[in-house]
Amino acid sequence: MAVVLFALFRLLEFLMLVIFTKGTCSNSGSQQALHVNITCEKYLDVYVDGETMLTGVQGVHSILIDSSSHVMAVKCKGAEGGWRGMIVGDGVLTDESWRCTKHKEAGWHMTTFDDRDWPSAVSYAINIGSVFPWGVKEGVSSEAQFIWTSDNRNDKEIYCRRTLYSPCIENGFKDKSLSNAILGIVSVTSATECGLKCGQMDSCVSFNIEYKTSSKLCELNGARAVTSSIDLVSRPGYQYYEIAKAGY
Ligand SMILES: *[C@@H]1O[C@H](CO)[C@@H](O)[C@H](O)[C@H]1NC(C)=O
Repeated sequence: MAVVLFALFRLLEFLMLVIFTKGTCSNSGSQQALHVNITCEKYLDVYVDGETMLTGVQGVHSILIDSSSHVMAVKCKGAEGGWRGMIVGDGVLTDESWRCTKHKEAGWHMTTFDDRDWPSAVSYAINIGSVFPWGVKEGVSSEAQFIWTSDNRNDKEIYCRRTLYSPCIENGFKDKSLSNAILGIVSVTSATECGLKCGQMDSCVSFNIEYKTSSKLCELNGARAVTSSIDLVSRPGYQYYEIAKAGY
């Protein structure tokens, strides 16, 4: 009996991985080529894995990012005179999953650069029209957001990065949990059920679940630890799972 239950448990665990990492996680880079249309306030430089794709351009530009790419890095020069800065693009949608800073650091555009202490980009609007002062950027998806640093009046030249893959999580994380992003707690009987509950909630991106008891508390989280480098806390009896999403 115990053996059967154990086998069933492993199967559930495996299904969790299949369901939540299905074709979307990759340690080796983006899984497909990405067509990107992008523009910014004034002059734009775009790098992919340290290679220059565009430099000093104005207006909307299209680039093709090869599959297996790891990092897109963008420099934007804003206009002078208090005009608000923005970068907007699709393919790799501009949103708060980007990180932006006004500080130029050596190697900032390289794949191996560690941007974990850079702040998240701030989203100021969506590209759907009547957005003052930018209006609609034709040629860029209406889902794209106008992003910049937190100070889009004073930061005139900024550096942004976006990871193009989601690291795969091998076996979940045992005896660990994410403590400060809990949106709700439900009681479930399996990690799969907890994952489905999380999937039903738009803002849920990871969960902590008791793994020793038969009735399990399932904590639905609104943040990711691994992919945003938040520290997990030690918590015996709980396991952390992250729902993998495509990196773009
Ligand atoms: C992106 O640019 C390409 C090439 O110019 C164009 O065909 C495509 O429609 C653009 N995408 C959007 C969402 O406008």
